[in-house]
Parts: sequence; C-alpha cells; structure tokens
Amino acid sequence: MGKGYYISKHLATAAMVLAAIALVTIIALSVVYNREKSKNAAKFSKATTLPVFPTPKTSNEPWDKYRLPDTLSPQYYNVTLWPRLVKNANGMYIFTGISGVMFTCEKKTDLILIHSNKLNLTVFKGHHAKLTGLSGVTAPAIKTTWFQSETQYLVIQLEGKLKPGKDYWLYTEFTGELADDLEGFYRSEYMENGEKKIIAITQMQATYARKAFPCFDEPGMKAVFHITLIHDRGTTALSNSQEIKNVIIDGMAITRTIFGPTKRMSTYLIAFVVSDFTYIDVRIWARKKAIEDRQGDYALNITQPILEFFEKYYNTSYPLSKSDQIALPDFNSGAMENWGLVAYRETALLYDPRTSANGNKQRIVTVVSHELAHMWFGNLVTVKWWNDLWLNEGFASYVEYLGADYAEPTWNMKDQTILYDLQSAFAVDSLTSSHPLSRKEEEVNTPSEISEMFNTISYSKGAAVLKMLSEFLTESVFAKGLSNYLKQFAFGSSVHSDLWEYLQKAVDQTPGIKLPYSVHEIMNRWILQMGFPVVTIDTRTGNVSQKHFLLEPEAVVDRKSEFNYEWFVPIKWMKKGQVQDQLWLLQKSAIHKPMKVSKNEWVLANLHVSGYFRVNYDLGNWERLLSQLESNHQVIPVVNRAQILDDAFNLARASIINITLALRTTKYLLHEREYIPWEAALRNLNYFFQLFDRSEVYGAMQAYLKKQVKPLFEYFGTISSNWTTIFMSHIIALSLACSTGVEGCRELTRSWFKKWMQNPPNNAIHPNLRSTVYCNAIAAGGAEEWNFGWQMFQKATVAAEAVKLRSALACTKVPWLLNRYLEYTMNPEKIRKQDATSTIGYIASNIIGQPLAWDFVRANWDYFFKLYGTGSFIFSGLIRDVTYRFCTPFELSQLKRFQKDNAETGFGSGTQALQQAIEKTTAKIKWLEGNKEPVLQWFLSESA
Ligand code: BES
Ligand code: ZN
Repeated sequence: MGKGYYISKHLATAAMVLAAIALVTIIALSVVYNREKSKNAAKFSKATTLPVFPTPKTSNEPWDKYRLPDTLSPQYYNVTLWPRLVKNANGMYIFTGISGVMFTCEKKTDLILIHSNKLNLTVFKGHHAKLTGLSGVTAPAIKTTWFQSETQYLVIQLEGKLKPGKDYWLYTEFTGELADDLEGFYRSEYMENGEKKIIAITQMQATYARKAFPCFDEPGMKAVFHITLIHDRGTTALSNSQEIKNVIIDGMAITRTIFGPTKRMSTYLIAFVVSDFTYIDVRIWARKKAIEDRQGDYALNITQPILEFFEKYYNTSYPLSKSDQIALPDFNSGAMENWGLVAYRETALLYDPRTSANGNKQRIVTVVSHELAHMWFGNLVTVKWWNDLWLNEGFASYVEYLGADYAEPTWNMKDQTILYDLQSAFAVDSLTSSHPLSRKEEEVNTPSEISEMFNTISYSKGAAVLKMLSEFLTESVFAKGLSNYLKQFAFGSSVHSDLWEYLQKAVDQTPGIKLPYSVHEIMNRWILQMGFPVVTIDTRTGNVSQKHFLLEPEAVVDRKSEFNYEWFVPIKWMKKGQVQDQLWLLQKSAIHKPMKVSKNEWVLANLHVSGYFRVNYDLGNWERLLSQLESNHQVIPVVNRAQILDDAFNLARASIINITLALRTTKYLLHEREYIPWEAALRNLNYFFQLFDRSEVYGAMQAYLKKQVKPLFEYFGTISSNWTTIFMSHIIALSLACSTGVEGCRELTRSWFKKWMQNPPNNAIHPNLRSTVYCNAIAAGGAEEWNFGWQMFQKATVAAEAVKLRSALACTKVPWLLNRYLEYTMNPEKIRKQDATSTIGYIASNIIGQPLAWDFVRANWDYFFKLYGTGSFIFSGLIRDVTYRFCTPFELSQLKRFQKDNAETGFGSGTQALQQAIEKTTAKIKWLEGNKEPVLQWFLSESA
C-alpha cells in the first residue's frame, strides 16, 4: 500500500518549537527590514562569499558527484521567504529566507550534502548552517562548511558521525537575488494602466529549487513542505497548499501568509507567487486586466471537466484540497505542473474570444489537460530520477489528448496526436544521432544533461509508444493497471519497469487478452533501442517484414542494440475497407496469409495510426490505395490519409520508394476537406518548398499547389459566406492559396489589413485568419506595414494576439527590418526574454531572414550561452530553427565550422540538435543529387 507519511508526536512538538523559533527570527528580520532597509541591503552586498573549491577532474569525493549519497533522507522542511519587490540600495532585487529541514540519517556518515545555488548563506560561528539533533539526540559539531560550485552543494563536514535511524534539523538563513532570469525564485515585470508592476514567481524544474532555498534537490527525495511567505499588504501570496493563516505584522506594511503542510512531494514541484493578481473561481489567476476582460473564463470552464475526467481515468481522486492555475507574463516553458499551483505562459491559459483563434483555444485545452494529468502521473507518483523523464512527459503528452477530448468532444482532438507527436517523433528518430527513450540512471547527471532530456523523443516518442501500448492492451486494461500503479506508489517514486509490472498484472487478470510476450519484453524493444521500423507488406505473397527506418539509407549506426534493431510490432489493419484481426510481427520477416490479396483488393496497415512505425507496400498495393483515394477517399480513415502522405514522402526521402509515387499521394487533395491530411501534406510540401525555393523547381511547384488548393479555397469561400465562420482547414486554404497566388487571395488579405491600418481600434479580421493575414500583408508591405504591426504588438493586451503579430513581423522581405528585429531580441524591453529565441526562429523560417538569423546566432552564441545559462533547455529549439533550411554542401561546411568554433563554449541542451542538423543536411544534399530532376519534371507535367 501507499507509503503514507506521518509525523510522530514528539517530532511534531519539536517541529512546532522550531517553527516558533523560526517565527521569532522572521519577525526580527521583518523589524530589521522595516527600520533599516538600507542596512539590510548592505548585509546582502557584504554577505560572506563562500569559498569555492575547484573540482579536480579525477576527484572521487562525494561532493564531486552530481547525485546525492543515500545516507540522508529529508522528511519535512519549514521554509520562510520574503521577496522584495523594490530595488535595494545597490539597485538589486533580492529575497531573504530562512529554512530548516528535518532529515533522517539512513547510513552512518560525517558528511551532509545539500543543494544550494547562488544563495548567500549567513555564517553562524564560522559555519553556513546550524545542526541540531532531535528527540534528545546530540548532533555532532560542524567541522567545516563550504560551497561546491560545480555540483551546486553546500558541503558540511562534521566532527563526529550522524547515527542511523536518528533525526536531525539543519537550519540556514540566506539571501538570494530576485533576478529576471526565469529560473528558481525570480521576478517578472509588466505594465498595467501605465504603471510598472513587479511580481515574484518560481520555476523549479528541473534543478532550480536549490536557487530558492537549500534542499535535497532530487525528484526521489520527497518531503513535506511547510511554507510561509512574507509580502506587502495588498499583494497575495500563493503556494502549493492552501493558506491557513494571514498575519498582519503590526506596525509594518507587510503580511505573513502561512500555508498548510503540503503532501509528500518532490522539490521540483514547489511553487511560490507574490503578486497583486486577481482570480475567478476554482481559481484561475492572472493580471487584473486580463481577468476583467474575462480572458480566464475558458480555462475555468474546462478545468472542472478535465479534473473529473482524470479522476475517472486514474480511478483516484484529485490528491490535493485546492487547485490554482496562474498565467504569468514571463515564463520560460509553456507551463509547469507545480502541485496545486500550476503556472502557465499567458498564451497557454488566457483566451479572448474576440481576438484569439481556434488554434489558441486548442492549445489551452491541451496544455491545461497536460498539466492536470501530471497532478497524478508525475506529482503523486514521481519518477525516481530524470533518466525516466520520458515516462513522466510522454505519459502526460499522451493523455493530454484524452482529457482535451473529454472537455471538447466535437474537436477530434485525439486524431491530432499523429501530427504533433507521432510525426514529429519520427522526424528525429529516423536519424542515426537519435537515442533510446530510456537512459541509464548513471548517464544523466549534470543540470545540462537533465535539461537535454526535455526533448522530442521524451515527449513525442514517449506519447506515441504509450498510445500504442494502451491500444494493444485496450484502454480499459491500460487504465486498470495504471490505477493500481498509482495506488501502490502514491506519494512515492518509481521507475518505468514498475509501470510495466502493474500493467502486466492487469493483463493477467483479464481473460481474453493475449499477448505474444510480456509487457516488459514488448516494451523494452521500443524504449531501450532508438528508432522504429518500417514494415513492408507484399500483398502478392503475404510477406511482412521489418527494417530499422533511417532517413539516410547508407548511414552507419554506431549505437549497438541488444535487440538488433528489431521490434515486436502490433499491426492493426484493414482490407478494402473491412477491419481485420490485429496481428503481431515478431520476427524480421514472416508470411501472414491474410495479407495476400487479389488484384482488386487493397491492404491498409497501421489502422488509425495506433502503432509507432511506418508502412510500405508492393507497388501494386500502392497503386490500388492511390486509386481508392482518388475515387472515394472517405473509405480510408482521416488519420490514415494523413499517414499515407507522411509515410510516402519519408520513404521517398529515404530512397525506399520513388519520389513521384510520394508526389502522387497529393493528387487526391483536390477532394480533401479535412484539416489533418492537409496539414500533413503541407508539412511535407513545406520541406520541398525549403529545398527548392531557391531553384527553378519552385515555379512549377507553386503552379501545381495552386491548382490543388483552389477548390478548397473556393469551397470555403462559399460555405462560410466570405470567411465569417472559420475552421482549421480554412486557415490552410487561405495561407496556401495566398502563398501560391490563387486569384483573389492576396487582394483579400491586403484589403483586410489596410482597413485595420486606417482604423486601428477596430480590427475586423477574423481571429482565425489573423496570423495568415498579418504575415501576408507584412510580407507584401514595407516599413509602414511593419511599424504598424510593431505598434500593435506593443499595445496588445492579449498574449495570443501579441504572438500572432510577433511572428508576422518576421515575414517581411526587407533585410534591414529583419536585422533590426533580430537586434530587438537582445533587448528585453522590446522582446521579452521568454520570447527571444522563438522570435529568432520565426525570422529563420523566412527565406530572406534565414541567413541573417544564422549569422546572428553564430556571432552571438557565447552571449546566448551566458545569458540563458548552460542548464537552459532552449538551445535545441534555437539550433533546429536556424538550420532548418540547410541543404547545400556550403551550408554543411558552415555547420561543421560552427561546431568546431564553439567546441569550448559548448552547446548545452543543443548538443543533440546540432548533431541532428548535420545529419539532416547531409541527407538532404545526397537526396537532392538524384531527385531534383524527376521532381521538376513531375511538377511541370502536373501543372501544365
Ligand atoms: N514539466 C514541463 C515544463 C518544463 C519543461 C519544465 C522544460 C522544465 C523544462 C511541463 O509539464 C510541460 O511539459 N510543458 C510543456 C507544455 C505541454 C503541453 C507539452 C511546455 O512547457 O512546452
Ligand atoms: Zn509535462
């Protein structure tokens, strides 16, 4: 059963005594602060700097290891923090704090290692902490303390040993900087009614809790947290649990908010917020203006149903007594699942029906669903170490669609996983530089190695293989095993094989479900080896075979696999419209008689795209599928139509099938009205655009696409009476129609934008079409349009609207405007730090902006690295975006040069992305050699 946590009576008394001492200290601190603000500031500036010991490379001391020893285990913390939202005498924003942690000694030791980073610790009698024994135990005296910067520890060496089974109390006082660095305890600034406002907020995942207070900062080191925040009257303090007391400190303009004890939880899920935000019930918090404008209403409406859904799905009630969600003006990731106080970027939580698009609404419902899914999977049960991050993030990325679908049943949200997870995972997992989902515990140590785990493989491949698992087990068996797993490990931590074990138990208890191997054996092949198979079906013989799919056919795979790059593949399939029994491919190749079909039948495998693999067929079957698509495409499920396109294009890129066969899968699009197949087609064609938009193929390709999209454009023009009711596929119709020059399209968008410029308070452009319209108008215009867009961007009070403008500003074709825009990304007054790298990415996706962005990133790599810190996770996106278009030998040599030139600075979380960029560029160069001519000929003949 769950290892529930309780505090024994005498410990509780000890805790209360210590809490009382802490209280006195904090009041003393308050008085000091109030009376002598400047002195306090001086204290911060003069605070003893801790001696830093350089790490000898070969050292084997415990403080040189990134992982904590297993000698101590924290039970609970009392933390009081006081952020100052005004500058001190040195022009700095700071916070002060006191913290105590009660820990149990598990193994005899004379050493305490506790994480602490960028904190200035007060020195008591020559040491940076005080140690007390509890329940009559005498603690050994402290011999020496120092700060180990590389591994971010406060090291405390003792004169004697701590005793196993005994509890101790470690106390520290500290000050820290409340910087605008988006990590740990930090500050965010925004304007309201012409006034600059400052709030104090946190982001602890993965390794930043140690920047807010000294703590055992590993996910498996769960404890109970008693948190107190001191803040100005008129501001509100929030944390993971409910506030139990608000004490106004007499004679001072400050309040002390005391929060109830949290559940037993990991440090990375801790959160504090001090702001003057306001809320609507179930509590969605945001800037006052945003709440007044009712931008929180949509999130509020969907939160309850999503929580309800997950309670049912996990068969476990919501583990906490409150649920707050808050939208923050500066936030590094999209959202963060702090337990009971989930934090979001404004675009991921706030929705304004007058200006936000359907896409923005979909983003909100999926992000909210993702983070709420973590309240159980991730927070109640936590992976022991970051090497299993894929399980946490992959799981949430899979079930986010289930929760979103429950809240918005008419949107077919579940179908979208194939675009946003499966296909994005395929794109990186088909490179030799990919890596297995699951890493060994000892391979992931430093903060930058941990950051690098937050990648497409963990999120998207994780989601896709878990979806496959759920589908071959059936959703009810999957959910049953899951719920038992959650019950077993509640308030504790686990590793991925624990989940397999509980799913296997559910299988064993369900009559009628037969697996060829155990869950463990099947899943190991998907998580312990990188990549995925292409399954080839020869319908002439019924032969089914598998091969590791690689984009570069001659690539050499260095990484060995104990499974020889073979998988156990569950294949759902249909024969000429009729669903067949699922079969398993368990060898390299096997005959499956039912897959041998006659000349007028066809086979479609990976039905509903539930499996993580690509499919290829004999030519005859491809032809029959193509003619089915052209005669009546609806016999084939929507997601399979999208997957046929994506498989065909990628098989062609890997030189497995002919490129003209892939191009022919786009012919049926004349009849297609659904969003998902169009989006899949567009992505693949976009890839072609980027390969060819500097060559003569471009014109022919434009002409062909124009022909294909015209019926869609005209169809929507009529059914939606001049674009007033708009769906997702409209957006595609409009953007593709404008970019290929369908008559009437550019005129339409330009006239809408002109009208807006003439009367800025009245923007009549439909929210769904704004991104496309803004981008096209700014691309066609000059400085006047750009400056207007920039003004509107600066004035925007809805974050989603600001993003549309920020990305449209990158569409201009004028180089000096693009260069100036790049410069703006270095100025946080113009472009928020959280938005800088994505803005560079937008610029790089513009054909004219690409070389400018690349030069800019190369020239400033050192600067970015320092600005964001080596542990930041943003570098991979940045490298991917600026190198996305590369396809020439010259560009390849530049990439390699960049890699060499910055070898010393390093690439942090972008290391893999750089490797991937080199590999992708190499593959494109080779592919272009043999395929440019047939592509040109095909487009010429089809557009004639
Ligand atoms: N735990 C992550 C947030 C995070 C990401 C923290 C990277 C530290 C580093 C959160 O659950 C998450 O995955 N957020 C996503 C949004 C989600 C809908 C995919 C994000 O931030 O993009
Ligand atoms: Zn997540």
